[in-house]
Amino acid sequence: MTNQSTNPIHSQAYEEAATYITSRTSIKPEVGLILGSGLGVLGDHLTDVTSIAYEQIPHFPVSTVEGHAGELLIGRLNGRPVVLMRGRFHMYEGYGPELTSFPVRVMRELGVSKLVVTNAAGGINTGYEPGDLMLISDHINLTGRNPLVGPNEARFGDRFPDMSEAYSRKLRALAHDTAKENGFALREGVYIGVLGPSYETPAEIRMMRILGADAVGMSTVAEVVAARHCRIEVLGISCISNMASGILDQPLSHAEVIETTERVKSRFLKLVSEVVPKL
Ligand code: HPA
Repeated sequence: MTNQSTNPIHSQAYEEAATYITSRTSIKPEVGLILGSGLGVLGDHLTDVTSIAYEQIPHFPVSTVEGHAGELLIGRLNGRPVVLMRGRFHMYEGYGPELTSFPVRVMRELGVSKLVVTNAAGGINTGYEPGDLMLISDHINLTGRNPLVGPNEARFGDRFPDMSEAYSRKLRALAHDTAKENGFALREGVYIGVLGPSYETPAEIRMMRILGADAVGMSTVAEVVAARHCRIEVLGISCISNMASGILDQPLSHAEVIETTERVKSRFLKLVSEVVPKL
């Protein structure tokens, strides 16, 4: 066997997707945004917007989870040219990590140099409360998967990319300043990424706390690995939508996740729409 590739994506697929997107708009996006459960509302705040359904884009996967529409929006957020994913691809849907992070490389092809990733996450740190917003300072990839497995796509980056500042210090400082200007504070902590789709057991959450995690979720890590590989700077924001399993005497539900993100939407919108032009 000469072809040892485990990556089902043909190297030209990224370019073909980008070429199609470029044919639909004259805006050249500088910042990419990937929005998590219930946070896609930010898309309503873009101007000069072009909406492209995922199924129209060559090679793009289609997302299936509740609370995620599937459209790519290109437009301006407070004047800054952006490309925004309303709905993302999760490995628990059955996509491999390379499909999950496919849009990140397409964004790179479009000229994006900064990426804002947002998600809903369970609070592991007992000092947190549902509704808190947490800047991701670092992550632990507990999914057992990595989007860079297979032959290295050298035009995107190195075989062994550095992950020592996966979430930019500089961008985090800008986000803290923006929150302060608006009269609220942000948490800052470590996000631990799991495969899902079942929520964690209380024993798993106790383990994750010992490992140094502050919040847990089922997305983001593969996207950020792919982004750092192609040297995109990342700002990560978790909405603490619930306390993680075993902390409170109640079961976890997707309904609670959606309810909490609804509740913090206005703060989240302010933060992201004001920080993006500064990035
Ligand atoms: N665990 C994993 N993923 C999540 C959670 C959680 O508690 N809340 C929102 N996404």
